[in-house]
Amino acid sequence: MKKIVAFAGSNSKASINKQLAVYASSLVHGAEIEELDLNDYLMPMYGIDEENENGIPDKANTFSNHLKNSDGIILSLAEHNGSYAVAFKNVMDWVSRLEGKLWQEKPMLIMATSPGGRGGISVLQTATSTFPHMGANVVGKFSLPSFGTNFSNGKITDVALNSELLEQVKQLKDSL
Ligand SMILES: Cc1cc2nc3c(=O)[nH]c(=O)nc-3n(C[C@H](O)[C@H](O)[C@H](O)COP(=O)(O)O)c2cc1C
Repeated sequence: MKKIVAFAGSNSKASINKQLAVYASSLVHGAEIEELDLNDYLMPMYGIDEENENGIPDKANTFSNHLKNSDGIILSLAEHNGSYAVAFKNVMDWVSRLEGKLWQEKPMLIMATSPGGRGGISVLQTATSTFPHMGANVVGKFSLPSFGTNFSNGKITDVALNSELLEQVKQLKDSL
């Protein structure tokens, strides 16, 4: 059975992006889903001096191995001030010190959601344009605007947005 790693680019315990990632992964029938939580990968703030003095934390290696042992990745990014949440950026920076192509050519569905009407589109655009330089095979992207209005009881309630996500999930499934 194919394995998909699903996680949010957030360390919020009530992360709306985690809820979206979990929902999207529930739509991939017939695959094993492994959910990751960035709270399990808290590391010192990346800096070249920290790396030179203390090396790369083991958690970066563990995270990278989860990606390596997967067949595909579902990621939903929190948007903070138009960019990545710091918890995600820190993990990404540490893992990139192990391997520049940190996404390891895995097929990837990248999403973002926020309470606002732009649905984290800025961070989604940044990720979809830059991740391919880091070994990502981006096969789908999706933004969910106005999370509070369009998501309820673990599901997207807006029919058109749900259809859009289903199409993106199909792209991922067909690429596994
Ligand atoms: C420091 C900070 C900056 C934020 N900046 C943005 C932003 O640029 N765009 C946006 O849509 N929402 C922004 N938000 C609201 C987040 O989208 C919201 O907190 C969301 O719940 C984050 O996703 P998460 O629940 O998965 O962590 C910001 C929130 C915080 C705390």
